[in-house]
Amino acid sequence: MGKASKDKRDIYYRKAKEEGWRARSAFKLLQIDEEFNIFEGVKRVVDLCAAPGSWSQVLSRKLYLPAKSSPDCRDIDLPLIVAIDLQPMAPIDGVIQVQGDITNARTAEVVIRHFDGCKADLVVCDGAPDVTGLHDMDEFVQSQLILAALTIVTHVLRVGGKFIAKIFRGKDTSLLYCQLKLFFSHVTFAKPKSSRNSSIEAFAVCENYSPPEGFNEKDLYHLLEKIGSPSGVEDLGFWITSCFDYRLPKWVVGGSKQEGGSYKSLDPVQPPIAPPYKTALELKKAANHGILEIDKLSLNSDHIWLHCVIPNSKHTTQHQIGEP
Ligand SMILES: C[S@@+](CC[C@H](N)C(=O)[O-])C[C@H]1O[C@@H](n2cnc3c(N)ncnc32)[C@H](O)[C@@H]1O
Repeated sequence: MGKASKDKRDIYYRKAKEEGWRARSAFKLLQIDEEFNIFEGVKRVVDLCAAPGSWSQVLSRKLYLPAKSSPDCRDIDLPLIVAIDLQPMAPIDGVIQVQGDITNARTAEVVIRHFDGCKADLVVCDGAPDVTGLHDMDEFVQSQLILAALTIVTHVLRVGGKFIAKIFRGKDTSLLYCQLKLFFSHVTFAKPKSSRNSSIEAFAVCENYSPPEGFNEKDLYHLLEKIGSPSGVEDLGFWITSCFDYRLPKWVVGGSKQEGGSYKSLDPVQPPIAPPYKTALELKKAANHGILEIDKLSLNSDHIWLHCVIPNSKHTTQHQIGEP
């Protein structure tokens, strides 16, 4: 769908640009907060898988900026927000950025160091792998991200704290629910209105962190493996029904001036600064200008390579464009 077309059809896509959010995902976190009051009393937060940064913007606007503008706020009282992603992000007021892989143990160590012995009140994770369209596969990779996030949670979250994580609904949802229930007294799976009904995503809202007595972080995977999968998920938590209200009124979609549809499509708030697809786009551009001819793709154990030929010469070039 083109930019103008999305602007017309999706109210949150357009509203995000009007309000200066980097992605429409901002509304998912805002709506989760409206329902669950997740920011109450929060001073320290970790935003996992944060790029391009709309959730970090929400954290900055809800927590950091109000504190900063308060006349008697001392630097020491300012909320601490640490955001992590594989991709770099443009800066956001009051947000410390860490570029790293949340499945890597060293990333957790970097986060812990930023908290300087203190614990976080809230951990949010909107992590998503590149979706393949194969639901079982996508759900599995997503569940690995949640487990990585849960590992970080067990190291940085204070007792009583909250954890919000994107999940993919599927056959293992009930297992995930039971695993999360080991650590939180309340777990709810929520589908905010701004999350498209066609998407299998939902959010686990986990409240009151209370790990089992004597729990040792090193035993996390061992403990999770012990949980059997119960059948049925609908009765486990409550689901906030989604109501398609991301569509704009008909007169805007129709777009005719007589109907009042004089919308103007808006530019993105903050395009990604180093998207993973950047090399592929540059090569495509070069191919369109006849500078290169794309020959074939190949895969070795670590990377995807694009092989190109320089027209009218015998020269070839190889470009790494991603990881499998
Ligand atoms: C849906 S986007 C997050 C959007 C973000 N919450 C926002 O509001 O702008 C998913 C992010 O997960 C990140 N991601 C996926 N796997 C990751 C990993 N292993 N470690 C860190 N980040 C990861 C991706 O780089 C991507 O930026």
